[in-house]
Amino acid sequence: MKDLLSLEDLKKEEILSFIELAEDIKANPENYRKAMEYRTLLMIFEKPSLRTRVSFETGMTQMGGHAIYYNIATSPLGKKETIEDTAKVVSRYVDIIMARLFSFEQTKKLAENASVPVIDALSDYSHPCQILGDLLTIKEHKGKLEGLTLAYLGDAENNVTYSLMYGCPIVGMNIKVGCPAKEEFMPKERVISKAKELAKKSGASVVVTNDPIEAVKNADIVYTDSWMSYHIPEKEKERRIKELMPFQVNAELMKHAKEKAVFMNCLPAMRGMEQTSEVIDGKQSIVFDQAENRLHIQKAIMLKLLEIK
Ligand code: CP
Ligand code: NVA
Repeated sequence: MKDLLSLEDLKKEEILSFIELAEDIKANPENYRKAMEYRTLLMIFEKPSLRTRVSFETGMTQMGGHAIYYNIATSPLGKKETIEDTAKVVSRYVDIIMARLFSFEQTKKLAENASVPVIDALSDYSHPCQILGDLLTIKEHKGKLEGLTLAYLGDAENNVTYSLMYGCPIVGMNIKVGCPAKEEFMPKERVISKAKELAKKSGASVVVTNDPIEAVKNADIVYTDSWMSYHIPEKEKERRIKELMPFQVNAELMKHAKEKAVFMNCLPAMRGMEQTSEVIDGKQSIVFDQAENRLHIQKAIMLKLLEIK
């Protein structure tokens, strides 16, 4: 595996090996203090970030390496320089690249033209680091992955939903997606078919419903993501709130999940929108464990792609 672009490319054993390495790194960080000595990570950003930027950079620092924050706004890319040339040039300097570009196609082009590993750190299609970190978090809280049911509620035509729809079935988890019956909020047909194909192999199930209660019924995990993803213009906000409100994760909806269900959100979160504060700030919420695990899983991802571990 040269790059980490989308979870559908991974086998169950590969996902589990990222998680196992992350568990060891988390338990024994001092053993990895020099693992990245003399290595450089390039972090290309076309969209904002808190977690991804800070956790990748901290991860490199803690392992003795260095990370460069490179914002597209201050680069010739797209104006005077192609993505192909960018990939070829930076491959002569750095050991590994993470890219948060708008378009997955562009990230793929970057990976095809780079001789060093490329990690998709969120695009319009994929957010693999997030979901690998989430699976680590679920395993910590539930003691296992296989056989669990995750309910995803809200805007389901996005990166986080897609990576969940691939990652869960690969490891044998069932996924139920609850979203409005509108093309704008529904996962694309080809994503649903791919997810079902992966589920068939592992014996898991994939359900897409327009009924929020049906979606959360008996779930072990209730997951939501922003209704205002980074690329959505502010003028869409009021209309989207109206359309997505039936899928808000609130205390009433949580009652339909299992009693011991946990609540997850990749963050950033807006209280009063995709979830209420009583849920995200309540006992069932594990959102900050999720955020922390980005650090550990990304260290594991970088070490594996560089074949150091
Ligand atoms: N969850 C996540 O990727 O957060 P950032 O946008 O802050 O990086
Ligand atoms: N779906 C969200 C995820 C943020 C981490 C977005 O694309 O903005």
